[in-house]
Amino acid sequence: PRTVARADAGDLTVGGVSVADLAAEHGTPAYVLDEDDLRARCRDFRDAFADADVYYAGKSFLCKAVVRIVAEEGLFLDVCSGGELATALAAGFPAERMGFHGNNKSVRELERAVEAGVGRIIVDSFTEIDRLTAIARRTGTRPGVLVRVTVGVEAHTHEFIATAHEDQKFGFSLQGGAAFAACAKILDEGVLDLRGLHSHIGSQIFDTSGFEVAARRVLSLQEQVRDARGVELPELDLGGGFGIAYTTQDDPSAPADLAKRITKIVESECDLASLRVPKLSIEPGRAIVGPAVFTLYEVGTVKDVDGIRTYVSVDGGMSDNIRTALYDASYSATVASRASDAEPILARVVGKHCESGDIVVKDEFLPADVQPGDLLAVPGTGAYCRSMASNYNHVPRPPVVAVRDGASRVIVRRETEDDLLALDVG
Ligand code: LLP
Repeated sequence: PRTVARADAGDLTVGGVSVADLAAEHGTPAYVLDEDDLRARCRDFRDAFADADVYYAGKSFLCKAVVRIVAEEGLFLDVCSGGELATALAAGFPAERMGFHGNNKSVRELERAVEAGVGRIIVDSFTEIDRLTAIARRTGTRPGVLVRVTVGVEAHTHEFIATAHEDQKFGFSLQGGAAFAACAKILDEGVLDLRGLHSHIGSQIFDTSGFEVAARRVLSLQEQVRDARGVELPELDLGGGFGIAYTTQDDPSAPADLAKRITKIVESECDLASLRVPKLSIEPGRAIVGPAVFTLYEVGTVKDVDGIRTYVSVDGGMSDNIRTALYDASYSATVASRASDAEPILARVVGKHCESGDIVVKDEFLPADVQPGDLLAVPGTGAYCRSMASNYNHVPRPPVVAVRDGASRVIVRRETEDDLLALDVG
């Protein structure tokens, strides 16, 4: 990732600010967001998918400043809870440019989305279709909806983040006929505005053939709906899931290549079936915000365990990055505050939490003289780290600090112990 390059001098600089200054001003641990990098990634997707709408998946990381950046860069926004909706609205994001996801949206959440005028609601169950239909009747509105289709693609990623195989909770099954039945129900009732179909096959995916198969299958349903009902649905959303490089082993596709492949398959399938090419949309989260952030930690202890491995403990851990423990994710780390000529040793970067699975970086070569007080940068932590952070062991969650043009600003402040106590009653 561009954000963290090992600087020759050893003192890493991002957005014109040195990590030493960042640590001095904001403390550690901290998530450091390279604002120019985030904006560049938004633009890369927007330009690559120029004929499509790019919805930033807010679940990867959302706060008001990021909502504004995404809006300024011309993206749409995918939200998946009342909380994300509230954040987006509080930042002034236009509701009609939002999509609302989730397999169990409450009646209240759906009402709020309809009241706010959310552009499209991605329906995920027959129960939800009934709920939304009732709300639309009651309020005299005609919400735009997409039907989320489970296309049966086995995405090659961790099973917890693969979403299009048959046996899981999301969407309407294509094979079992539920997806067609959902479309038919919406069309029969005529209350909701059925705009199109949606597919999301999973996350951190490198093999683009998964998207091609998904597009093909979802378009076969498009054809079926046209043949049975004489309706050509105008929109098609192929979800997010584009992988990023966490280590040098990962080799992600550039947005331009993704766009080319996806557009080509959609066009050729439509051509074969004599379908009008629907307006495409995608929902990248990780690929936009993931590489734009690194976590800055301070080393607290260094322990050599019987010559097996060196454990380098930092002042955060699984409460600010659960991904290593949860998905066996790989990260890298670098000493960011100084240069060292010491020989590299195999180290494991661990946190300060009370369990041995509290690992941030499984294996990394760090200089043998790594020591307490060193600053350690772990790149690629923009997506699903702050957004999945917890207060385990009553550790306050770190701030998010944006850097740009030699200046830093806090966009999410550090939690305090008072914040933690504020919810206790009595
Ligand atoms: N669209 C839908 C419907 C989704 O469910 C998701 C992610 C996205 C878009 C964005 O996917 P992305 O481009 O960010 O991969 N916590 C896991 C990832 C869970 C993804 C959930 N849905 C992780 O840390 O890897």
